[in-house]
Amino acid sequence: MAKNIDWSKVGFDPIRTDFIIRSDFSGGAWSEPQAVPFDDFRLDPWAGTLHYATSCFEGLKAFRGKDGKVRIFRPDENAKRMERTAQYLGIPGPSVNMFIEMCVECVKRNIDYLPPYGYNASMYLRPILLGVSPQVGLTVPYECTFAVMCVPVGSYSGTRRLSSVKGVIVRNYDRAAPNGSGAYKLSANYPGSFKPYSEAHRFGYTEMLFLNPATKEFVDEFGSSNFFGIKGKSYVTPLSDSVLPSITNKSLRVVAEDLGYVVENRRIPSSELPEFSEVAACGTAVVITPICSLDDKPSLESEEVSAHYQYTKQGEVGPVCQKLYDHLTGIQFGEVEDIHGWTLEVK
Ligand code: PLP
Ligand code: COI
Repeated sequence: MAKNIDWSKVGFDPIRTDFIIRSDFSGGAWSEPQAVPFDDFRLDPWAGTLHYATSCFEGLKAFRGKDGKVRIFRPDENAKRMERTAQYLGIPGPSVNMFIEMCVECVKRNIDYLPPYGYNASMYLRPILLGVSPQVGLTVPYECTFAVMCVPVGSYSGTRRLSSVKGVIVRNYDRAAPNGSGAYKLSANYPGSFKPYSEAHRFGYTEMLFLNPATKEFVDEFGSSNFFGIKGKSYVTPLSDSVLPSITNKSLRVVAEDLGYVVENRRIPSSELPEFSEVAACGTAVVITPICSLDDKPSLESEEVSAHYQYTKQGEVGPVCQKLYDHLTGIQFGEVEDIHGWTLEVK
């Protein structure tokens, strides 16, 4: 049944769709996945995930193409990343096939929530893996739930078109610990950003750039996305073991090479930040969000700005970011040939 959604207004807010696709791990095996009506999704109040954050997640998108076809972008990569994260957590995770099949089923069962082509909007898929067996003590869960839900989304930063936003370098908070879990998509990696985000937003910054937690000398990533900078003909992106390996960044490196740029994946000293002609955040949610300026402050709470790097005027987008964005979203919306076989058609 067609839903009464104004596609020109969708942002990045949760809504109740029709179904969640769910499978439960118990007695050493996963159950046959079921489409559960959204409001029937239940958890035991003693479920470990609610107490000890035994939980990880993924984020990927399905698109309605120019040709009317429905495509999911690189679900195999998200499946493999969840496998790695589950191993880190020490809990059973879905196989790559099971992950992909449940994502496809989620799109099909909620197809009326997939934005039509032409609105620059898509369907965000949110797979979650939870330790659900009841526990009070610190024990490894023996029952888990894997579920895939979805929501129609537009732009993450709220702007209707590609537009640059202000960023700030974070010096008095860390997203990840040295030798910690930053390279894995644990749910517990995120709430530590809420307070710094509200401080950053209070001062008018949309994005926060974290430095490597051990020495604070090198660029790591933004709160919910990877960093890249353009320097001459190079696409430069940090090599760091505390950064989440972004599938968007992995794809953009290939797109950059296809467009004739050289990719440098290396440590980026924060002192190099003034040398980039363009800087951007990249990720599934933010796609490419160009950063017009970065302020360096002794602390997020401080009024003092010790350095200011300006890349473009606020709202404006540099030519390389624009080209990369057009190419990547072109593949996703079926406007540009998918020569790397990144999209999975949902039939
Ligand atoms: N970095 C962090 C901390 C993230 O949460 C995300 C989002 O998933 C990314 C980077 C971007 O990763 P991807 O491009 O796979 O969405
Ligand atoms: C994504 O880009 O898929 C993310 O997971 C970011 C999210 C934390 C908003």
